[in-house]
Amino acid sequence: MRFCDLIIKKRNGLKLSEKEIDYVIKEFDEGEIPDYQMSAMLMSIYFQGMDINEIKYLTMAMVNSGKIIDLSSIPGIKVDKHSTGGVGDTTTLALAPMVAAAGVPVAKMSGRGLGHTGGTIDKLESIKGFKTELSLNKFIDIVKKVGASIISPTSDLAPADKKLYALRDVTGTIESIPLIVGSIMSKKLAAGADAIVLDVTTGSGAFMQEYKDALKLGKIMVDIGLELGKETVAVVSNMDEPLGFAIGNSLEVKEAIDILENRGPKDLRNLCLVLGAHMLKLGGAAKNYEEGRSRLEKILKEGTAFNKFKEMIAAQGGNTKVVDKPELLPSAKYCTKIKADINGYIQKIDSRLIGESAMLLGAGREKKESEIDLSVGIILKRKVGNKVKINEDLAEVYYNDSEKLKEAKNKLFSSFVIGDKKPKKLPLILATISQEGVKEWE
Ligand code: URA
Ligand code: CA
Repeated sequence: MRFCDLIIKKRNGLKLSEKEIDYVIKEFDEGEIPDYQMSAMLMSIYFQGMDINEIKYLTMAMVNSGKIIDLSSIPGIKVDKHSTGGVGDTTTLALAPMVAAAGVPVAKMSGRGLGHTGGTIDKLESIKGFKTELSLNKFIDIVKKVGASIISPTSDLAPADKKLYALRDVTGTIESIPLIVGSIMSKKLAAGADAIVLDVTTGSGAFMQEYKDALKLGKIMVDIGLELGKETVAVVSNMDEPLGFAIGNSLEVKEAIDILENRGPKDLRNLCLVLGAHMLKLGGAAKNYEEGRSRLEKILKEGTAFNKFKEMIAAQGGNTKVVDKPELLPSAKYCTKIKADINGYIQKIDSRLIGESAMLLGAGREKKESEIDLSVGIILKRKVGNKVKINEDLAEVYYNDSEKLKEAKNKLFSSFVIGDKKPKKLPLILATISQEGVKEWE
């Protein structure tokens, strides 16, 4: 097989066979294929797409670049959750203890933030002592004892994805449905769960800015999950504004604690309940979605998920006092505000701009190697549909370093669009995709 022939084949819109896709991934992963050839292949895939079989072969080739984690020693149906990425997305932090409190084990590997998106592992590291790099045995032990553990991916979790993602990032090929599906589903399948719940975000902060693209991505991910033997449910959620009020690592831990205390922002709480209800259903802890949801509402009311979060923090070496006293989390030295310059209603809050603003403050990484400041970030004081008057607060900015403050504030300010009329607000959940088909919002 000549790699160049395969590039030409894909470039001309022909389908690649299982053998050919295995060859592409294996040779690239082993360093046998130079980046310039793989870049041409990625761009051909970007333009020509792949059919469901090709995506399946791609996903499995990426899974097989590493090892499949064996979670079989943990009793029960293990359900994993993944989001295609958002801004201020604090969901996993609250969701894992909620689902564990209902008796469904959560063995989750999460990523770090890059660019305008945050990552669960960074957020957890704002809890003093919390270890995110654990051996597989220790990880499994914690899930058995506590019911939930969240760690960084082990190095043999679909290693081909790391190299491929880095190359996509610099070749304009991130927003390709087959490549996104291969990337996400290979990591989920290698992580060893029995069932998968996916949150496919759409809107200004998401990879799929258009709803119809997000729906397509969700359908293909569900198909691939089912084809490869995992029960899979996806929801398409609206990310036309950041989730909740907090954006920034320790600020988001505090927000997750609010949710676990049965308070907190409505949209974030709702997303946790929706994703959690699907997880309970797939995990066999609820007959249907409605039962799952009311179970979780009860769990939040009774505080069992709050206690579960503490147990998980203790098991991973973290300081559990922060759960009772979030003021012990790293906090920024200074706070300033941005204010409205006209009267009206908030029409839109551009998530990407907010994410970039938080990154400038130091909450996110410009490059993979960048250091982040866990204490800084943004608290929104207005959300889409809220009324605002001149000089009223739009957001608070928590910072330590004033070097990029002006730029960060400008970006933050420009993310708010204010208009005369109260806007029609889309629901948070735009569609649910499962084996039974697609249910779109009415
Ligand atoms: N998240 C991933 O892990 N991979 C992608 O390709 C896109 C989002
Ligand atoms: Ca948030």
